[in-house]
Amino acid sequence: MKILVATDKPFAKIAVDGIRAEVEAAGFTLALLEKYTEKRQLLEAAADADAIIIRSDIIDAEVIEAAKKLKIVVRAGAGYDNVDLEAAKKAGVCVMNTPGQNANAVAELVFGLLVFAVRNFYNGASGTELKSKKLGIHAYGNVGRNVARIAKGFGMELYAYDAFCPASIIEADGVKALDSAESLYAACDVVSLHIPATAETKKSINYALLDKMPEGAVLVNTARKEIVNEEEIVTLMETRRDFKYVTDILPGNHAEMQEKFAARYFSTPKKMGAQTSEANINAGIAAAKQIVDFIKTGNERFRVN
Ligand code: 3PG
Repeated sequence: MKILVATDKPFAKIAVDGIRAEVEAAGFTLALLEKYTEKRQLLEAAADADAIIIRSDIIDAEVIEAAKKLKIVVRAGAGYDNVDLEAAKKAGVCVMNTPGQNANAVAELVFGLLVFAVRNFYNGASGTELKSKKLGIHAYGNVGRNVARIAKGFGMELYAYDAFCPASIIEADGVKALDSAESLYAACDVVSLHIPATAETKKSINYALLDKMPEGAVLVNTARKEIVNEEEIVTLMETRRDFKYVTDILPGNHAEMQEKFAARYFSTPKKMGAQTSEANINAGIAAAKQIVDFIKTGNERFRVN
């Protein structure tokens, strides 16, 4: 059995060593394709793979078609919008994620970005504090929960909106559950995005929603680029000179954002939220264990297609 780790953005070495140990203990072989620059390299590496571990790497119908022996793809992380679930299903390929394994890393980066934003990107000018500010957590999944835990330490007032998570679960954490995105944005000084990229959520973070936020608002995005309406955020920041946007996912219009809003906008050059040794170890080893278990016992826990 060949288990391929295909990561454009590589895991820390310690995580790769851990994945290798799991795979070899099961009697399987590990193949590593890191920092690849062309899809052709992925197609070639996948051709004889029985299982693939990926991060944000694109597994489309062409990759699935090329991987004739493929049985399972595990996205070492939370979001699986980079995998063609239907093509996989048609080909009899199981797709899983590793929910929660990198959530703390992403949540910590939310605060790294927020402190940077409210202190004016460390330019020396007087900024503001997070303490007593109202934080809106848009979707209360694993990352949202970790954001709430950390925000308590900053002394923030916590609100959340999640279309699927029951209010009782949110409120059990001492977070006020609101019943619409509109009411969350209207109430909160800072909103942190944690919704997945789906047909329903794409471009849903738009002018109308963001303009509800109070004076001095900050939006932080460690989720997905696709959920933000990029044209409308430009219009909003042109009219709302108090508004700041910090993101861990390089927008399609980064050059324009940088040029127009240098003092109120920041993006990491490459998504860094889950890029810690701990998150790499947690998600990478969970992925390896899920593959071994699936192949040896047929366990389909965490299947998403
Ligand atoms: C996720 O969905 O798990 C995060 O966005 C992290 O993605 P990455 O593994 O590409 O860093």
